Amino acid sequence: MTLRTDRLVLSAPGPADADDVVAYANDPDVIAFTPVPVPYGHAEAHQFIERVGDGWRDDTRYDFGIRRVDDPRLLGTVGVFGFVDGAAEIGYALHPDGRGHGFVTEAAARVLEWAFAAPPIGLGLVRVQWRALGTNAASAATARRIGMRYEGRSRSAVVHRGVRHDQLLAAVLRDDDRTAPTDWPTP
Ligand SMILES: CC(C)(COP(=O)(O)OP(=O)(O)OC[C@H]1O[C@@H](n2cnc3c(N)ncnc32)[C@H](O)[C@@H]1OP(=O)(O)O)[C@@H](O)C(=O)NCCC(=O)NCCS
Repeated sequence: MTLRTDRLVLSAPGPADADDVVAYANDPDVIAFTPVPVPYGHAEAHQFIERVGDGWRDDTRYDFGIRRVDDPRLLGTVGVFGFVDGAAEIGYALHPDGRGHGFVTEAAARVLEWAFAAPPIGLGLVRVQWRALGTNAASAATARRIGMRYEGRSRSAVVHRGVRHDQLLAAVLRDDDRTAPTDWPTP
C-alpha cells in the first residue's frame, strides 16, 4: 500500500530502512515523548520493521514510512493502530532533519483520508484519536493542524520512563471539517 501527497511517498518501511529508523529513534524528542526502547540499535530497528510487516499482514496496525518524493531516506513514520469498533489511534514521529516543513501534517492528513475512506479504498473508520504526553506541544500542534478536536487532559494518567504525566486527548470524526480548530488550549 502506497499513499502519495504533493511532497511525500508513504509506504511501509522495510529492512533497508533500519539505519534511518535507528537515526530518528535516537532523537531526544522521540525518546522523551514516545515509548521507543532505550538504547535503540539495529536489533530494535529490525524488530520494529518486523512488527510493521506483521501489522500489515494481520491487519492489527498500519504503519507508513514518510519519504520525500525525491529522496529514498526514511524520515519517520505515521501509523494507525488500536482498532476498536470503527475507531483507531494515530501516531507519528519524524527525524529532526525533516521537521518544520509540515511533512507530518501532510502525511498524517493523507493517512486520515485513507483511514476514513470506505473500503475497498480505505479502512472505513469513523473516529481517529490522538494521545500524547501533556508537555508534547509539537505533537499537539500537528494534531490540531490535521483537524483533531481537543477532548481533554487526563491528569497524571500515564507513566513514561518512570515518571507520571498528564495525557492529552483529541480526535477527529469521519464527517468533521478537517481544518485546524482554533479552540485548543495553549500548552
Ligand atoms: C511531533 C513531530 C512529528 C512534529 O514534527 P513537525 O515537523 O513539527 O510537524 P509538522 O509536519 O506538523 O510541521 C509543522 C511545522 O512545519 C511548519 N510548516 C512549514 N510548512 C508547513 C506546511 N505546509 N504545513 C504545515 N506546517 C508547515 C509549521 O509552521 C511548523 O513549524 P513550527 O513548529 O516551527 O511552527 C516531531 O516533533 C517529532 O517527531 N517529535 C518526537 C516524536 C513525537 O513526539 N511523536 C508524537 C508522539 S504523541
